[in-house]
Amino acid sequence: MLLRRIIWVVARGRSPLCDSATVIYPTRQLKCAGCGMVNPSLQSPHSSSSRTFSGLSTTRCGLIYRKMSENGAVPRRGKVLTLDTMNASVKKVEYAVRGPIVQRAVQIEKELKEGVKKPFDEVIKANIGDAHAMGQRPITFFRQVLALCTYPELLDDNTFPEDTKNRARRILQACGGNSIGAYSASQGIECIRQDVARYIERRDGGIPSDPDNIYLSTGASDGIVTILKLLVAGEGRTRTGVMISIPQYPLYSAALAELGAVQINYYLNEEKCWSLDISELKRAVEAARQHCNPRVLCIINPGNPTGQVQSRQCIEDVIRFAAKEGLFLMADEVYQDNVYAEGCQFHSFKKVLFEMGPEYSSTVELASFHSTSKCYMGECGFRGGYMEVINMDPDVKAQLTKLVSVRLCPPVPGQALMDLVVNPPQPGEPSYATFIKERTATLRALAEKAKMTEEILNTVPGISCNPVQGAMYSFPRISLPERAVQEAKAKGVAPDMFYCMKLLEETGICLVPGSGFGQKDGTFHFRMTILPSADKLKVLLNKVKEFHQRFTQQYS
Ligand SMILES: Cc1ncc(COP(=O)(O)O)c(C=O)c1O
Repeated sequence: MLLRRIIWVVARGRSPLCDSATVIYPTRQLKCAGCGMVNPSLQSPHSSSSRTFSGLSTTRCGLIYRKMSENGAVPRRGKVLTLDTMNASVKKVEYAVRGPIVQRAVQIEKELKEGVKKPFDEVIKANIGDAHAMGQRPITFFRQVLALCTYPELLDDNTFPEDTKNRARRILQACGGNSIGAYSASQGIECIRQDVARYIERRDGGIPSDPDNIYLSTGASDGIVTILKLLVAGEGRTRTGVMISIPQYPLYSAALAELGAVQINYYLNEEKCWSLDISELKRAVEAARQHCNPRVLCIINPGNPTGQVQSRQCIEDVIRFAAKEGLFLMADEVYQDNVYAEGCQFHSFKKVLFEMGPEYSSTVELASFHSTSKCYMGECGFRGGYMEVINMDPDVKAQLTKLVSVRLCPPVPGQALMDLVVNPPQPGEPSYATFIKERTATLRALAEKAKMTEEILNTVPGISCNPVQGAMYSFPRISLPERAVQEAKAKGVAPDMFYCMKLLEETGICLVPGSGFGQKDGTFHFRMTILPSADKLKVLLNKVKEFHQRFTQQYS
């Protein structure tokens, strides 16, 4: 950058730092018109005070020039930022959902477009929970209100139902200069936070929610990372340990790596439908106390990548455990409307906490997260989300408010969308019937695809798939022949990565290896979304079936 700036200013006769015009001498000597400083080869009057770094020097007034060696050649300078000098914590970050398999899938798509012959003619991506990218239609009401907010001239258009216009006016009135393009309060627009609080109260059977405890966020990811930032402290054995489920959603391991926190794995019980055992939490926390300070317990419910929905009893046990062990609870509830299995129901941690009485509800610290990206909305690109914090120390809350204000505010269109999610059309309003129809159709289709995924995968010898009770993913276990495991090892890749890469090359299906989410040693999985259309999903599942049989034969 700096070198480019120097070239730029030399070309324009300006000093890069003092911005005074410079005179360029034919012998590549620079003279700053601001202070009269010239290149040292002209015996500068204040050359003794010049700073030098990596072959560059500055004059007192800030003119930067390249130092020349004695023979007049400009020495080459290495890059300031290299793999060796960059932030080591960032290098440790991994995010399998967009990892090498996906990069190869993008490349294959290009090759197909260029006419390269493959045994398939399209790549089917089931690697990421991005519903719209997989063809899910947006909810009409949401998009109409957002269109009106974005281009208020449309408020005069008769094709928009009256309730969409009322909503848009209300949102715009809450925006600076009545524009969705203005920054908002850092915690989020106040009337939207109020709507979120009312939504939580309705969802949780009337348990009060205070809008002051609501922070709108840039998707749930931003809220999760922000809370982790507050929690990570200490050095060595006092360093914060954060308990995360294995398999996990890799945002967590990535954020912990970046923050230098200690990751404490607790394993979900695959044999019991990926349920959470309190005995496993105990094992994990006790082992971790030998080397760090466990302070946080993260729960994803409904689960990603495992698709389980926690029972009320399990949530109660987790809260009791957190209280006993002195842990801050983080409840990732972005899939709260994605519950499909009979007998399963979403219970929010907040509700269960308050139903357990004041011993818990007035002491256990909890942050819970929601998003516009999942459920029936699938509006990932708007980056809408919120978090609710409970029992947070008021002084820490002030720090949280300060921290979020550094980044000004979450995207205002995302906030507007969050508002519509928590405050959808009501019976009697013009948009109500269409809204219900669209929402029901999307959730019903997801439920059917969840069932289809489990059923087809379980017909394949060597694949076993737990019921997809909720969320948008299945995480089936795959048996891999020993010879395939050895070949993968010889190639230096995880066996399930080897499997998924071969699957992609042979069938065009893009899944994520289980190793990207964590799994018990010696077990192998892949994660696939249930988001492709039912027809495509069927094709995908049957191709996986054929591939698995072929792969098993080839390596047996
Ligand atoms: C469990 C879980 N939490 C958080 C997120 C991030 O969601 P957002 O798009 O709201 O940042 C995801 C995205 O897939 C997720 O699966």
